[in-house]
Amino acid sequence: MDKLSIKDLDLKGQRVFVRVDFNVPIKDGRVDDDTRIRAAVPTIEYARERGARVILASHLGRPKGARVDKYSLRPVADHLSNLLGQPVAFAEDCVGEAVKSKVDALVDGDVLLLENLRFHPEEEKNDEAFAKELAGLCDLYVNDAFGAAHRAHASTAGITKHVRQAGAGLLMEKELDYLGRVINNPEHPFVAILGGAKVSDKIAVINALIARRVDKILIGGAMAYTFFKAEGFTVGKSLVEVDKLETAREIKKSAEAAGVELLLPTDHQVVDSYDPLNSRKTIPIEFTNAGLVGLDIGAETVAHFSQALQDARTVIWNGPMGVFEEKGFEEGTVGIAHAVAEAADRGATVIVGGGDSVAAVTQAGVADRITHISTGGGATLEFLAGDELPGVAALNDKK
Ligand code: 3PG
Repeated sequence: MDKLSIKDLDLKGQRVFVRVDFNVPIKDGRVDDDTRIRAAVPTIEYARERGARVILASHLGRPKGARVDKYSLRPVADHLSNLLGQPVAFAEDCVGEAVKSKVDALVDGDVLLLENLRFHPEEEKNDEAFAKELAGLCDLYVNDAFGAAHRAHASTAGITKHVRQAGAGLLMEKELDYLGRVINNPEHPFVAILGGAKVSDKIAVINALIARRVDKILIGGAMAYTFFKAEGFTVGKSLVEVDKLETAREIKKSAEAAGVELLLPTDHQVVDSYDPLNSRKTIPIEFTNAGLVGLDIGAETVAHFSQALQDARTVIWNGPMGVFEEKGFEEGTVGIAHAVAEAADRGATVIVGGGDSVAAVTQAGVADRITHISTGGGATLEFLAGDELPGVAALNDKK
């Protein structure tokens, strides 16, 4: 990496502002999934062990610039304290006199978590004065929030202009390393599995993957129905982006021209839209009943996609194969989780990103067999699409 790393910084006795992505689900005042918090622990431990005074800052949800209790980071402070096995102090705000006093009270090795940055509208506006105020809390800056690196906000971009040194954290480096290798130097056969509701969210990634000579793209989730519809198939009441039919045809054409295999589901789990609770069944490609809605891929598609992964050396997976969050429609996504874990067992480099896909590998009990689980959602997609991430661009270059 050509950016400064936390390993290049002299941390002893320094106030180090570490931007983390603690945007995690909170349920009944408790952290419901701590994947992102755990992923930041190595950086926090690294800084503590070297005598830094660690100031952690993050956003949580989209409170739109106002203080909203359910988006408070306080439960995260308690959770992190358990993970670290040491107290984590909490500041009720991220700027202001009370926060400064808490920072002044830190001794080497202490950890302080600031309240949600997005309680201030200036954060998302990348406001200069706000960025300066954040910078005023610290001597050094570390960005470990890969998941938020596609945002040019005060804590991810603006702040770096006002600190002595700005480097990448260990998680940030690891993410950029794995994803960078996939994009720049994948071992072939290289297979991408893409799912989720919308083609529009994935167009840039699909085009970038085709340009980079991915060998196969397997498409599941509701976005498959836009491709089916574009080819003239009937898809009943399944979700279709009618304004993206031409885009789907263009993607298909450019894949063909580049020799990239584009695979769609061969069967679907559907329900009758008039009796959704009692009508779940599996049907082949063509929807003969106009009232049916496709909600997951079928078992035949799981087998077919698994077969397509047999000789894969590199696999990336982003997006669920169906409405994974609904009971009864998680099988396709969980089936793919097993298939990618098996590909990893055969020696492929397997990278999984996106909330639902990551939840599926956890639910399937295969998370520890995956080469790299990315903590990014939008950031992973933007990086794979070849976009420069503002949170990375803003860091100091290595001399
Ligand atoms: C994410 O969950 O993808 C990141 O934390 C970024 O969140 P945002 O989309 O609200 O900026």
